[in-house]
Amino acid sequence: MKLQIDGQDHDLGDLDPRTTLLDALRERLGLMGTKKGCDHGQCGACTVLVNGRRINSCLALAVMHEGDAITTVAGLEADDGTPSALQEAFMEHDAFQCGYCTAGQLCSATSLLREVKRGEPSVLTPMGAELSLSELSDDEIRERMSGNLCRCGAYANIVAAVRQAAEAES
Ligand code: FES
Ligand code: FES
Repeated sequence: MKLQIDGQDHDLGDLDPRTTLLDALRERLGLMGTKKGCDHGQCGACTVLVNGRRINSCLALAVMHEGDAITTVAGLEADDGTPSALQEAFMEHDAFQCGYCTAGQLCSATSLLREVKRGEPSVLTPMGAELSLSELSDDEIRERMSGNLCRCGAYANIVAAVRQAAEAES
């Protein structure tokens, strides 16, 4: 089977159909940008984008995603290879310590910004409200990033970085 990852086609040959997308990335293709934390859908370290939407790659079977556009942290840079505004904001705000959760945080936050642009509510968004990126409160950011845990506790800086990127895109 083949997977399209960060704009490139990868041939995986014969693949055990039980292989998760996360293990296909890391173990079969050696693409170590996506991290394995819990392997149970609890920590968000393995978050990638599939056709622009965030998923936990440890909970997805690779065979389900043949033909999909998969984006890992390595594919988040701007077209000219420079860091995205979100990646710049993470660096400016020191939004990590060990960095193990960071790939997942960046993929998740990239999707968060797109979800708000599409007008998708979180559980905190008032019924009928049309939230814009400039109105994104810290509580909204915390709720929308709640699937991504950080063992180092860099949450305050992660929220600040996401807020800066949201304001820059608004
Ligand atoms: S490794 Fe996938 S959610 Fe933790
Ligand atoms: S920076 Fe260490 S787990 Fe988040």
